[in-house]
Amino acid sequence: MAPPLPLVVLVFLAVTTVVPHSAAASAGAPVVFPKEATPTKSGYLPIPPANASLFFAFYEATDPVTPPASTPLLLWLQGGPGCSSLVGNFFELGPYFVNPDGETLSRNPFAWNRRFGLLFIDSPLGTGFSAAPSPADIPTNQSVIAAHILAALQSFYALDPTLGLRARPLFLTGESYAGKYVPAAGAHILDANAALPEAQRVNLRGVAIGNGLTHPVAQVATHADSVYFLGLVNARQRRELESLQSEAVSLTRAERWAAAADARGRVLSRLQNMTGLATLYDYAKQRAYATDAVGTFLNRAEAKSALGARGDVAWAECSDAVFEAMHGDVMRSVRPQVESLLRRATRVLLYQGVRDLRDGVVSTEAWLAGVRWDGLRAFLDAQRAVWRTGDGELAGYVQRSGALAHVVVYGAGHLVPADNGRAAQEMIEGWVLGTGLFGSGSQGGGNGRRRASLMPPVAAVSAVEYEQAGPNAKCVAQCRILLR
Ligand SMILES: *[C@@H]1O[C@H](CO)[C@@H](O)[C@H](O)[C@H]1NC(C)=O
Ligand SMILES: *[C@@H]1O[C@H](CO)[C@@H](O)[C@H](O)[C@H]1NC(C)=O
Ligand SMILES: *[C@@H]1O[C@H](CO)[C@@H](O)[C@H](O)[C@H]1NC(C)=O
Repeated sequence: MAPPLPLVVLVFLAVTTVVPHSAAASAGAPVVFPKEATPTKSGYLPIPPANASLFFAFYEATDPVTPPASTPLLLWLQGGPGCSSLVGNFFELGPYFVNPDGETLSRNPFAWNRRFGLLFIDSPLGTGFSAAPSPADIPTNQSVIAAHILAALQSFYALDPTLGLRARPLFLTGESYAGKYVPAAGAHILDANAALPEAQRVNLRGVAIGNGLTHPVAQVATHADSVYFLGLVNARQRRELESLQSEAVSLTRAERWAAAADARGRVLSRLQNMTGLATLYDYAKQRAYATDAVGTFLNRAEAKSALGARGDVAWAECSDAVFEAMHGDVMRSVRPQVESLLRRATRVLLYQGVRDLRDGVVSTEAWLAGVRWDGLRAFLDAQRAVWRTGDGELAGYVQRSGALAHVVVYGAGHLVPADNGRAAQEMIEGWVLGTGLFGSGSQGGGNGRRRASLMPPVAAVSAVEYEQAGPNAKCVAQCRILLR
């Protein structure tokens, strides 16, 4: 009963060349990339040097509460250095997640493109689907990366001038090593805007960093205390970690960047060895984050074609070449760029999953309290409000003043949106739109505020004090808080 051969061939050609995912569906095979999961726009954004481009995937807001012309845009950048933003897309905050089978997708109920347009870019050049024309084109520092991000944004705006993308408020977001990229790109954009005609400016309104590495010299000095007070190491091990941390700090102060990065590596590796944890990214996990399925999925020809990615590029979650090229950047600070953003009243959100042992809360507070900015005192004196989601569950803590907000996310490690999607979505929507506890008007409001006001204020630890005390000294203020 088979139809005549020519007809079969004709049907096969028609469906495979035009819409590959329908071909799979009509043959009864699993739908690899359902139409509703494909990006609104995706492909490559040209940047200098010649022939180079960064891969992007853009998802328009599905349920915005703002008019289309003013609906905010979020750019998400992954860490590493050298990890693909498609991990964020398909494992953390995009509209669809890759299932553990590596073949199918499921809708993410807490997607960040509910209220906002969401743009993922594979950066630095050499990361994910952004193959570098030659190894020499892989960036080695933040200035080059920031220039590439600005160039990619300009290419993105130019894709469809009628969409009015450029006029929409833009927020740079990212996690981990993006704690470097986000402030560096943000400050670069503000500097560039000053010299650009109005029609070519970028409407940057704020930056958000999750569990970021931003000012490593202060951050590297906090691991021993964090794990000691969690009960994960004993006093002797703590002293050993402190001594390794001191080496990293001294080498950083001496600007011996490669040696300093190696010294930090020794701290983390010793920490891993002593604690025996499955991952330092989350002390409550028995297994590392299961991101492997994302790679299985993205290396399928159907997935690459649906995303408009180059078929000849093998997608890797993190690029070794980029990681190596950036080695000398690891211990360098972008705290001045954060200061530059705050001084120009660009909003800054720093959030951390409370269970992260690499770039967690204590690590962030250690550099935050040393920020040179007029509003710092008021920020450090501000109340830390208890934050609950709509259903009354503890979501974390919110502290803010002026342009700066600090959010601690409960029930989460390093990859906050993957661990506590509901809280992460509520946070980003509240912060961008300026509502509730995250609002830019009067501090707080709602349950969190009332509950928090019943608590005695807790003195914030000054990173300056912390750094001056040195890794081998007793951390008086820190210990007082942690022992409560
Ligand atoms: C860019 O690509 C074109 C076409 O493949 C090639 O002719 C040219 O040499 C390339 N330029 C550089 C700088 O790689
Ligand atoms: C960053 O790297 C580029 C390219 O190698 C180089 O020209 C530039 O001087 C570097 N910038 C800094 C601040 O090191
Ligand atoms: C830690 O390192 C020691 C010495 O190299 C090794 O014997 C031990 O098995 C390691 N422990 C863990 C949990 O990795």
